Amino acid sequence: MFGELFPEAVRYAELLADAGVKRGLIGPREVPRLWERHLLNCAVLSEVVPEGVTVCDVGSGAGLPGIPLALVRPDLKITLLEPLLRRTNFLQEVVELLGLDHVTVVRGRAEEVLGKLQPVHVVTARAVAPLDRLAGWGVPLLKPYGEMLALKGDTAEEELNGARAALSKLGVLETEVLQVGEGLVDPLSTVVRVVVGESPGGVRFAAKRAKAARTERTRRRR
Ligand SMILES: C[S@@+](CC[C@H](N)C(=O)[O-])C[C@H]1O[C@@H](n2cnc3c(N)ncnc32)[C@H](O)[C@@H]1O
Repeated sequence: MFGELFPEAVRYAELLADAGVKRGLIGPREVPRLWERHLLNCAVLSEVVPEGVTVCDVGSGAGLPGIPLALVRPDLKITLLEPLLRRTNFLQEVVELLGLDHVTVVRGRAEEVLGKLQPVHVVTARAVAPLDRLAGWGVPLLKPYGEMLALKGDTAEEELNGARAALSKLGVLETEVLQVGEGLVDPLSTVVRVVVGESPGGVRFAAKRAKAARTERTRRRR
């Protein structure tokens, strides 16, 4: 799966098992199942990410799914977005140690970086929030016609059905539940894919985004 970057993937697993556990970023019980539950389960998301696009991994935590995705896809430009300093420090160390020049770490909450981050083609997320709330944070960060890919468990269909009204208000045009990782992970990873139209976040976020961009321009001029 990781090809030439397999040694970097091993190094990342070691960092998670050591500093990740010591600093409380990952539970000690996860250590024996780091590869199948975390690295591989996240890396297979690559199957549904288009070639050469920009990606924002919202609520990246210790780098999941963003780091495994970066290891299998050097063609992507990935931003790891995470509000907690302890976690962004760890992420920055991992990015530097593994030499991941196509990955940037940004500290912040998704709803607060609107207008400050360049809109991206793909938002990824795992274990951040229920789909309706996650969409409210992630969809406004997308470019027109971009997509959010949320790794979800068995509740994917249920969450999607419960979030339909919220998604429609956010300008989502298309939704699907996908299984990825055939022949690589067992069980397969479940991904909820939502695709927006020309107004990511709908009317409410168009105004918010424009206001945030104006504030950011003024701040930069000072
Ligand atoms: C349960 S952890 C999951 C971390 C990682 N995605 C994983 O699968 O291991 C949820 C993460 O989302 C972050 N988070 C919570 N609210 C957020 C928000 N509004 N914007 C961005 N990240 C957020 C938390 O700080 C935390 O690191």
